Amino acid sequence: MHNEVRVFSPGTVSNVACGFDILGFPLESIGDEMIVRKTTEKGIKINNFSDYKLPLDISKNVASVSALALIDSLNPDCGFEIEIIKKIKPGSGIGSSGASAAGCVFAINKLMGDPFTIADLIKFAMKDMENDGMFEHPDNIAPALLGGFVLVKSLSPLEIIKIPTPDDLYCTVIHPHIEIKTAYSRSILPKDVSLVNATKQIANFGSLIHSLHVSDYDLIKTSLNDHLIEKHRSKLIPNFYQVKSAALEAGALGCSISGSGPSIFALSQGIDRAMKVEQAINKVYSGTSIEFSTYVSKIGDKGVKLI
Ligand code: HSE
Repeated sequence: MHNEVRVFSPGTVSNVACGFDILGFPLESIGDEMIVRKTTEKGIKINNFSDYKLPLDISKNVASVSALALIDSLNPDCGFEIEIIKKIKPGSGIGSSGASAAGCVFAINKLMGDPFTIADLIKFAMKDMENDGMFEHPDNIAPALLGGFVLVKSLSPLEIIKIPTPDDLYCTVIHPHIEIKTAYSRSILPKDVSLVNATKQIANFGSLIHSLHVSDYDLIKTSLNDHLIEKHRSKLIPNFYQVKSAALEAGALGCSISGSGPSIFALSQGIDRAMKVEQAINKVYSGTSIEFSTYVSKIGDKGVKLI
């Protein structure tokens, strides 16, 4: 058995336009790294090797909170030291917390000889720091651990379904360097939605899932529309509709807000198209005073992995 492992834990795009809180996918080439090693002293210790400030108090860091949930269940005869090399900025909308939580429980499970299933790990990673409960939207954590498109069918009992990922599907992301807290981004959403919009959303969601199963890129294109969330949250993201228009004009299949924002994602068929989309959205933000980063990534079929 290993005494130390190094893992890559991917960033994730959740919601995917029409799947608010229930659909997500990992980005193969964008994510955090973590080194986790066994210690003779019991308990958890966190070291931050990132450019970003992270809580080192183990009751406040998502990685250690998830690790403690796992340890509670296993009661191992050792402790763990976690080194976080965070590359996804917290509050970016591409699953920064989910990557920390998923990477940490995956690494500890490996160090202990894989006693837990991925479904168990998802539950540990869903541990909520705030109220000793569980996160109610594991649409980042589940794809980070399972890989590929993942549907969260139910929370209680937890039912997670892996959906096939078409081979030639690429994602372009623009991350404007502004922070939007998920809690705030949720607080501005209406509590009720119209039946007409709910019906349109269900139709798009059903056809998106079908299109992923049969790799029908035309159907992916007509399904990637959100009738419930985007119109509210887009107000928090400068130039959102300019980015969306530029991405669609450059040939993206669809474009919407990644998770609770501020990142915006676009899906394209083929890497060349995804890179053209990157250039187009780059141009939109280059005309603003807001700093930003862009990425192009294949959709990862594996999720967290040892490196
Ligand atoms: N689906 C969540 C939201 C974010 O859009 O608020 C990620 O869990």
